[in-house]
Amino acid sequence: MEIAIIGAGVIGLATAWRAAARGAVVTLVDPEPGSGASAVAAGMLTPVSEVAYGEERLLALGLASRDRYGAFVAELEEETGLGTGYRADGILEVAFDTDDLRYLDEVRRLQERWGIPTEALTGRECRRLEPMLAPGVRGGLLASEDGSIDPRRLAPALLAAAEKRGVRMVRRRATGVIVEKDVAVGVRLEGGGEVRAERVLLAAGAWSGGLEGVPAEVLPPVRPVKGQVIRLRTAVPFLRRSTRGLVKGSSIYLVPRADGEVVVGATQEEMGFDTRVTAGGLWELLRDARELVPGITELEFAEVSAGLRPGSPDNAPLMGPTALPGLVVGTGHYRNGILLTPVSADILTEVLLDGTVPEVGRPFVPERPKDETA
Ligand code: FAD
Ligand code: GLY
Repeated sequence: MEIAIIGAGVIGLATAWRAAARGAVVTLVDPEPGSGASAVAAGMLTPVSEVAYGEERLLALGLASRDRYGAFVAELEEETGLGTGYRADGILEVAFDTDDLRYLDEVRRLQERWGIPTEALTGRECRRLEPMLAPGVRGGLLASEDGSIDPRRLAPALLAAAEKRGVRMVRRRATGVIVEKDVAVGVRLEGGGEVRAERVLLAAGAWSGGLEGVPAEVLPPVRPVKGQVIRLRTAVPFLRRSTRGLVKGSSIYLVPRADGEVVVGATQEEMGFDTRVTAGGLWELLRDARELVPGITELEFAEVSAGLRPGSPDNAPLMGPTALPGLVVGTGHYRNGILLTPVSADILTEVLLDGTVPEVGRPFVPERPKDETA
């Protein structure tokens, strides 16, 4: 089976690796592998923190992916000898004031209704877990099975694993999908040239809706949702685990890494394909982060960046065959693409190689009723 994949973010990369491991001949097309949202993401692996009422199937997909993560990373690190910064030491979610605590209580009730074990903590218990938290923090929840990974290490490891399995990396932009007799048969490259294949996977993140040659009704309805993040550095232990906070109604998270990096995120903005970093965005992040963890102001500033999440109409990914034979889509992972990488790669590999959608992926096929993922 010859497969061409447009987009080498975590979704395209992981699928290329998995499909090549099953014997497929895979070509990945991307001018700059791992450069999209995957290069900006914080890398929290938390199925519960960002799902809302009515997103139960998305929660189930997230849980399935989180449960595959340990084995996925072990295999990846063994095949490549590269680290990924994976950790499964839990995520703490805290409330800054009493209104925030009331909201967090609602979240806990919802999680209990969904059968997710949650541990409700007092403010003092939160500070015992994370001594750098502000004295006023009212309470929190510990999602002890969640964790994080460094997406900037995950993507290169996936690329190395894919190339080791024989995947060909074409560092060019795809302008469109080649369609002959109503079948997708390859990818057209910018500046001339093409890649022929029996199956084409469209996994270009927020850019997936802009490929030529694909009928408008088949293009995935994804849109860019901008997120700004700040990267800080510390030489001394700061936070022990990823910590999310609700500060006077606004959400903030801090994701520490073993090498001293602390990622502070993230804004959520409907601004089209705009990746400018703004004073207002950074001010909001620093304001809320300092309320939650006052010592943040002592950390060294390292970087600011903005990425584009591939948002879908119902916040859930679009994965599976399309009405155009030969074309499969794998995008729309929105705020959870890093978390959903292992399960998405498994689903997309089965779709590409066997032509079937595994049970866990059925609610996420591109042509689904509007409320299918609820
Ligand atoms: P991308 O990573 O965007 O990759 C798309 C790739 O396609 C890029 O490499 C690009 O170069 C390529 N491409 C685009 N157009 C073309 C073309 N025409 N031809 C060839 N190649 C092309 N998720 C989590 O699970 N946990 C988190 O904590 C988290 N935090 C986030 C924080 C921020 C600020 C942002 C922005 C995102 C975050 N995410 C998080 C979401 C996650 O980053 C995305 O869902 C995920 O990266 C999507 O992966 P992807 O491979 O579909 O797309
Ligand atoms: N999942 C974290 C973010 O999207 O900002």
